[in-house]
Amino acid sequence: MKKKVIAIASDHAGYFLKEKLLSYLIKEKHDVKDFGCFSEEKVDYPDLGHSLANAVSEGEYELGISICGTGNGINMTVNKHPGIRSALCWNEEISRLARAHNNANICALPGRFISESEAYLIVKTFINTTFEEGRHQRRIDKISLKMY
Ligand code: RB5
Repeated sequence: MKKKVIAIASDHAGYFLKEKLLSYLIKEKHDVKDFGCFSEEKVDYPDLGHSLANAVSEGEYELGISICGTGNGINMTVNKHPGIRSALCWNEEISRLARAHNNANICALPGRFISESEAYLIVKTFINTTFEEGRHQRRIDKISLKMY
């Protein structure tokens, strides 16, 4: 599988998992940029989410991985950016479908609710699954408010 250019970010609640995933992605030879946070000191997830989403939205990174406690706050944040389709992924099959059907470009993880091994599986699947296009592209085209 072709190596990807990936951006990763978390708040303090996802910091531990981010560090683990960062090492995993580097080990797998992906080109990864860490947007923080850089310690367990409390931070606000939108600050991290906006930096990550800006970079993915501008096309600097193919995919993003975002992590907060529930995954919801950072997922809501990044989805405000143009061209971002972020999916909350809590298991492998949701992750596969997020790429295959929704062409998601950011995977949002609930750091406080999944194990390290579940996270590896979710991220690996997210990276290695390709978009199925066809009817799914038609549906994605209808997500934008510009269509209505
Ligand atoms: C931080 O305590 C927590 O609120 C945050 O990580 C996230 O779960 C918000 O959605």
